[in-house]
Amino acid sequence: ARPRVWVSQPLFGDIIAGLDEHFEVDDTREVTAWSPAQVARKLADADGALVTLNERVGAAEIADAPRLRAVANVGVGYDNLDVAALRARDIVATNTPDVLTETTADMGFALLMAAARRITEGERWLRDGRWTQWSFDTLLGHDVHSTTLGILGMGRIGQGIARRGALGFGMRVLYHNRSRLPDRIERNSRAAWVDLDTLLRAADHLVLVLPYSAATRHLIDAAALAKMKPTATLTNIARGGLVDEDALADALSAGRLAAAALDVFEGEPAVNPRLLALRNVVLTPHVGSASLATRRAMATLAVDNLVAALGRGPRAGDPPTPIAATATGATTAK
Ligand code: GLV
Ligand code: GLV
Repeated sequence: ARPRVWVSQPLFGDIIAGLDEHFEVDDTREVTAWSPAQVARKLADADGALVTLNERVGAAEIADAPRLRAVANVGVGYDNLDVAALRARDIVATNTPDVLTETTADMGFALLMAAARRITEGERWLRDGRWTQWSFDTLLGHDVHSTTLGILGMGRIGQGIARRGALGFGMRVLYHNRSRLPDRIERNSRAAWVDLDTLLRAADHLVLVLPYSAATRHLIDAAALAKMKPTATLTNIARGGLVDEDALADALSAGRLAAAALDVFEGEPAVNPRLLALRNVVLTPHVGSASLATRRAMATLAVDNLVAALGRGPRAGDPPTPIAATATGATTAK
């Protein structure tokens, strides 16, 4: 019998069709909020699964999945997977790095600029009919060019943001990462390593691009925010749980931080009501990699990974994109 694969969310039909020639495909036509028990049931008779950040796959979900051999995550972050539990069962886990790097770096920069120059706040103000006359001091923001860009987590996306800042906007770029990058990469990114404390104190614009784990949960807490300049902005395009959102709301409402831009939230899709109530925060619904071309490339890579991991198709002998090899995992632990 052909191997069975489960596809947890609707992706692009023409790309998912690439699985049909190798597998019996159990696909999902509507966006679905699967419970852990439902995930476990879907995995119970699957040889492979193509999942998204919505689906947690850990020890409990694979306990009754004797045939499962591969889990392909559509996304670069994989905190939804318990990689150790999968590895203990010899289940291959893959993700989709590289194909989304530049698109996500674009979004990080867009959010940084929106926060610094109060772009979405200004749009809301205009749409609310409050623009009655041009005035000299309306919506004064903070400069981006020639300021200090701080990057926390210097994987591929962090390096892309660094290049944009240095080459496009004349910024001085500082980064912090658990391990310092090789000279060649520092030169290409025009970035200098500093310790976390220095990064927090020096950055005019801080961007979070590091993996989320138990070690990085609430890395940006009240103490970290207190070190930042009151004129600084904070942008998060990684995972919501990196930031203590209540502490962030405190800092933003007290004027201890100028603005924030958040694409990710700890309880998403729920957003902390205190953040929703603030003017000086830009909010987007986890769309960092959401260009049409990049989402197509991510789906294609995830399909290729699953095909390769299950030993089918032209890439049967090639390695898929195993998480162990691609994890620049790069980054800071507290
Ligand atoms: C999305 O957040 C991803 O990790 O690719
Ligand atoms: C994650 O490792 C990235 O690509 O930044």
